[in-house]
Order: sequence, then C-alpha cells, then structure tokens
Amino acid sequence: MTLLVTGGAGFIGANFVLDWLAESSETVVNLDKLTYAGNLETLASLQGNPAHVFVQGDIGDADLVSRLLQTHQPRAVINFAAESHVDRSIHGPGEFIETNVMGTFRLLESVRGYWQALDAPAQAAFRFLHVSTDEVYGSLTQDAPAFSETHRYEPNSPYSASKAASDHLVRAWHHTYGLPVLTTNCSNNYGPFHFPEKLIPLMIVNALAGKPLPVYGDGMQVRDWLYVKDHCSAIRRVLQAGQLGETYNVGGWSEKPNIEIVHTVCKLLDELRPKADGSSYASQISYVTDRPGHDRRYAIDARKLEQELGWKPAETFDSGIRKTVAWYLAHPDWVSHVQSGAYRDWVQKQYAAPGAAA
Ligand code: NAD
Ligand code: DAU
Repeated sequence: MTLLVTGGAGFIGANFVLDWLAESSETVVNLDKLTYAGNLETLASLQGNPAHVFVQGDIGDADLVSRLLQTHQPRAVINFAAESHVDRSIHGPGEFIETNVMGTFRLLESVRGYWQALDAPAQAAFRFLHVSTDEVYGSLTQDAPAFSETHRYEPNSPYSASKAASDHLVRAWHHTYGLPVLTTNCSNNYGPFHFPEKLIPLMIVNALAGKPLPVYGDGMQVRDWLYVKDHCSAIRRVLQAGQLGETYNVGGWSEKPNIEIVHTVCKLLDELRPKADGSSYASQISYVTDRPGHDRRYAIDARKLEQELGWKPAETFDSGIRKTVAWYLAHPDWVSHVQSGAYRDWVQKQYAAPGAAA
C-alpha cells in the first residue's frame, strides 16, 4: 500500500511524513516542488529509508503526476502542497493562484483520470484528502461563535481566497465526478520545522538573534493554535474514518491574541536561554505597521471531528509551545541553514518598509 503526499517537504507535510513513517511501513511517495518553503533537510532522518520516495515536481504537472500515480498505485493522495504565507500572498498573489487554484485543479484532474481507471474495490477504497485552512471562513467579531463546517466562506486575503477556491474545486470534483474526497480546515499550526517567516518561529529566531520582535498593529488579533503533530493525527483519523465529501474543522480550543503568544515565547526563552544581561526578551518587542486587510479573529469549533471521529489534540498550548521553543533551541543548524537561503531576501523585503522592523 502506498500514499502520495504532496508538499511533504514543507512544515506540516514533512511532520506528517515523519510521523507516518515512524508508525507505518506503508510507502510514502512525496511530491514537492521545493519552493523556498520546501526543505529536504527536515526529512534528513529518512535518508536511505526505502519507504520514502521523494520526487521533486509540481502538482500542476499532469504528465508527472499521472506517471507517479500509474507507477505507484497509491490508495490515497494527501494534498498539502500550497503557497501558505498570507504576507507573501499580499506582496505577490500570482503564485498563490497558480499553485493553490490551478495546481489543485490539475492535480484533481490527474487523480480523477487515475481513479476512474481503477477496478471497483480500489475505487471504493481510494481517498483524496485536501488539507485546507480556517482562513477560508474570514474574520470573526470578538463574541461570535467559532467557525463550524457550515460557516459561510468569506476569504479576505489572496491566500485565503486561493485556498477557498481550491476547497470549492475539491467539493465539485466529488459532487460532479464522484471522486472520493475529504477536506480538513485547520487553525494555526506551530511546532518543529516551522519556517521562520511565520509568527512563532520568527519570534524565537529573532529573539535569539537580538533582533526586534515585530508585532503587527495592536497585537490583539486572535488565532486558534494547534500543535502540528495534533494536526497530523487529525489528518490520519479523517483519512481512516472520514465520511466521503465531508469537511472537518481541526483546532486546538486555544484562542490567543498575538501579543500573548509573543510574551509566552519570551518568557520561555527567559527561562530556557536567559540573556546574559538579565533583561527579558520581551524588551525586543516592537509594534510595526499592520498587515493590510488583517483578519481580526479566527476560532475553530472542532466538535464534529471530536464527536464523529473521536479525535482530540494530545497537547495543550502550554505543553506544545514549551516543546516548540525547546526544539528550536536544540536545532540551531536547521535554523541557520534556513536563514542562509532565500529566507534572508524575504525578511528584507517584508520588514524594510517605513515603520517596520527586522
Ligand atoms: P509550507 O509553506 O510550509 O509548505 C508547502 C510545501 O508545498 C512546500 O514544501 C513547497 O515546496 C510545496 N509546494 C508549493 N507549491 C508546490 C507545487 N506547485 N507543487 C508541489 N509542491 C509545492 O506550508 P504548510 O504550513 O506546511 O501548509 C501545508 C498545507 O496546510 C497548506 O495547504 C496550507 O494551506 C495548509 N494549512 C496550513 C496551516 C498552518 O498553520 N501552517 C494551517 C491550516 C492549513
Ligand atoms: O489559520 C491558519 C493559517 O495560519 C494557515 O492557513 C496559514 O498557512 C498560516 O500561515 C497561518 O496564517 P497566519 O497569517 O495566521 O499566520 P502568521 O504566522 O503569518 O501570523 C499569525 C498572526 O501573527 C497574524 O495575526 C499576523 C501576526 N504576525 C505575523 C508575523 C509573521 C505578526 O504580528 N508579526 C509577524 O511578524
């Protein structure tokens, strides 16, 4: 048995592949374009493992994807591949439309061709699991109930609009062609191997480097946070038992304003790697220009996944963030190798604007 995982050199995809192969001998074919966000160093522990087949390529390359499907005959495709960073989507939305919309469309077409040619039992067992985000639902007011699966789609950024479009394509391929799909919409992940352009890893690496900790606007935007390994366990559970054509919200019941997250990271660093002069890392916090169109609040109602499929997160925010900060402290080489690449150019572009800090 084989899985085809796309985007498995990125943050969540790589955690998924590592966790999967730690528990199972089922082969994973890992198709990743290796954009700036794809990092094979994350998968270094799988070197020489015959159950991991890495292929560099684009989900939109129909010839390649069809060949991989024919050769490896996977029982499921799990689609993590995407452009994932909201700020990048504001600077340059084109790649987001290309990969998240057109790439998903082409992938669905390749998978449909493969699936339709399978025999009846293999067709019935096949799954296409699409990994999506809570951002498709838009922004909540302070007291509004958390997003359920039936919440209206109201995407506000080029990123979330492109993910919303991909969700609609997946839904349509089920409704029209009968493709056996599942979709997950998850909140903000954090944990090992997170690229330091996103809030939590950026705060850790900037703090350690003595740089400012750039908090957008008033820092009171609220996100729900889930440890990445819990997202991976949710995907495994949905793959195993999800109802075809259904969507499942995944979240950590852990809503927090950004400024609280930043203070928590600073406190943990104060404890685990105190500064020589005795000052707190919090003194490096610097309020900067807000993100255009910044969504104020996301919150996930994960009861469907919990009640129907029996999934629960294993980590609380306190235990997960402690593990995360400790992981970054224990892996300075991974961080410095990321920083010596394209990441540097990005940081300069993003934080060079007047009023911003790097
Ligand atoms: P990431 O940016 O870290 O990784 C994306 C991976 O996809 C990279 O390895 C990249 O090389 C690869 N990729 C990009 N374009 C590709 C293409 N055209 N063909 C093949 N590979 C391509 O992203 P992530 O944070 O790991 O997110 C993975 C998925 O989960 C995304 O679909 C994202 O929308 C979704 N998601 C992320 C979060 C989060 O908090 N990070 C939360 C909910 C949902
Ligand atoms: O909600 C799920 C989404 O979470 C995923 O779909 C996205 O792929 C993922 O990138 C993430 O999106 P966010 O925009 O919420 O994550 P980010 O880490 O970029 O920002 C988190 C919050 O922190 C957001 O309100 C913006 C703020 N922020 C971010 C950065 C990078 C800052 O205040 N300063 C920063 O430097």
